[in-house]
Amino acid sequence: MGKVQVMEHPLIQHKITCIRREELGSKEFRAIVGEIASLMCYEATRNLKLGDVKIKTPICEMIGKELCGKKLAVVPILRAGLGMVDGMLSIIPTAKVGHIGLYRDPETFKPVEYYCKLPADCGEREVFVVDPMLATGGSSVAAIQLLKEKGVKNIRFMCIIAAPEGVEYMQKEHPDVDLYIGALDECLDEHKYIVPGLGDAGDRIFGTK
Ligand code: PRP
Ligand code: URA
Repeated sequence: MGKVQVMEHPLIQHKITCIRREELGSKEFRAIVGEIASLMCYEATRNLKLGDVKIKTPICEMIGKELCGKKLAVVPILRAGLGMVDGMLSIIPTAKVGHIGLYRDPETFKPVEYYCKLPADCGEREVFVVDPMLATGGSSVAAIQLLKEKGVKNIRFMCIIAAPEGVEYMQKEHPDVDLYIGALDECLDEHKYIVPGLGDAGDRIFGTK
């Protein structure tokens, strides 16, 4: 079973409380989502593989450490996942970026795919799928299914707020995927919004409501 890591870092918890506040405007919301993504990326990359490398400093030769595992990619689920990309890239700037477009049908709550463009060598990369919200899990389960159909084998999923229902569905459908979660909330409401959550992440990032 994939690991589920709920972030305990005080800065992450503090910043999540900031974006939950309904009075926060889009400009600040976007900025803080980016900061949370950076901090979560730092935590989620703790176990990247390191190897020895011989280098020369201005003083002498030494054996240093460098990343030696798979190259990385970040794949946001559009739209709201876009809000996490720059924060991720501030920590892993050489990662390539793919995009998967999905929206949740307001009647059926099922994901509808409308776009997919991935780096050509995505199958050889370690892929971080990012979306601020994991509610029913429909969107993220579908996005990861799509990645697997395109040959991606190493996938991690990162979200800022998750509902228990979404975590359970992800673990059932993709038990090989590690989950990095900023905060695990209580439940979903009748419209499948996360409670207490932060509302519609896409609308809050892009100011569309
Ligand atoms: C939101 C969110 C997730 C999805 C989560 O996107 O960003 O992708 O809902 O819900 P789920 O776990 O029940 O699938 P939305 O469908 O509102 O699209 P948007 O990002 O374009 O606003
Ligand atoms: N999508 C959101 O943006 N927010 C939720 O609470 C659930 C799905």
